[in-house]
Amino acid sequence: MISAIIGGTGCQRIVGDDALRHEISTPYGLAVVFERKRGDDTLYLLLRHGEGHVVPPHLVNYRANIAALKQLGVTQAIGIYAVGSITSVVLPGTLGIMDQFIDFTGGGREATFFTGNGSGVRHIPMVAPFSSRLRAALIKEAARMSISIATKGTYVCTNGPRLETPAEIGMFRRWGADYVGMTAATETILANETGIEFAGTVYSINWAAGLDAEGLSFIEDEISDRIIDRLTTLVEGALSVTFAQPGH
Ligand code: HPA
Repeated sequence: MISAIIGGTGCQRIVGDDALRHEISTPYGLAVVFERKRGDDTLYLLLRHGEGHVVPPHLVNYRANIAALKQLGVTQAIGIYAVGSITSVVLPGTLGIMDQFIDFTGGGREATFFTGNGSGVRHIPMVAPFSSRLRAALIKEAARMSISIATKGTYVCTNGPRLETPAEIGMFRRWGADYVGMTAATETILANETGIEFAGTVYSINWAAGLDAEGLSFIEDEISDRIIDRLTTLVEGALSVTFAQPGH
C-alpha cells in the first residue's frame, strides 16, 4: 500500500532522519516529498509549508503537492492540521477527526484541477469529503492506543494568513463550525478530485479570536509538541492498518 501523511505547522519532526528526499515535478510545479519504507509499504511525508516552514497557507502550491502524491501512486492519505477552537468539541491541547468542512477561502487560491478545456469540467461531490474507512481506522487505532480524540467536527477554512476577528468567529460558530484553520478544505478538495482516499485530523493550539478572556494566546510549545507526536503516531498506525476491501 502506498500512503501519505501531509503535515503542517509543527510537523517537521515527522519526517525523521532516515527518510529519502524527492523533488517531484508536476504540471503545477515542483513538490518536495520524503519517503519511508516499511516492508512492502511506502509512506510519503509532505510538509505543506515547505522545508523550514516558509510558505504561508494562501501561497501553498496545493495542486503540485496533491498531484505529486498522485504521480507517486499514493492511494490513501491523512492530513494533519493545526486549528483554533471555536466550540468545546476539540479544546486547545486536544485532537479531532474531521467529518465536514466549510470553505471560506473565497477563491483566494488554486483549489481545483478541473479548470476547463484540456483539464475538463467536473463537479466533484462533497457529501462525504472524508473517507469513512480511514476515519474508522483512526477511531479504531485511537481506541487501541488509548488516545482520546473527538471523532467528528466541522472545520472552517479561511484564506489567511491573517487570523480572524471575533465577529468572524462568532459567525463561524453560528454556522456550525467547531474549529478554524487555513489549509484543510483546499487539500481535501484536491485529494477528492484525484481519487486519493483522504482523511483529516486536527490538533488545537488556541481558542479562536474573541473566545479567550486573556486575548489570543497559543498553548505552550511543549504541549503542542506532545500532541503532535501523539497524533502522528496515531495517523501512522491508522495508515498501516490494511483492509481487504479498500474504498469509501
Ligand atoms: N485561526 C486560523 N488558523 C489557525 C488558528 C486560528 O485561530 N489556530 C491555528 N491555526
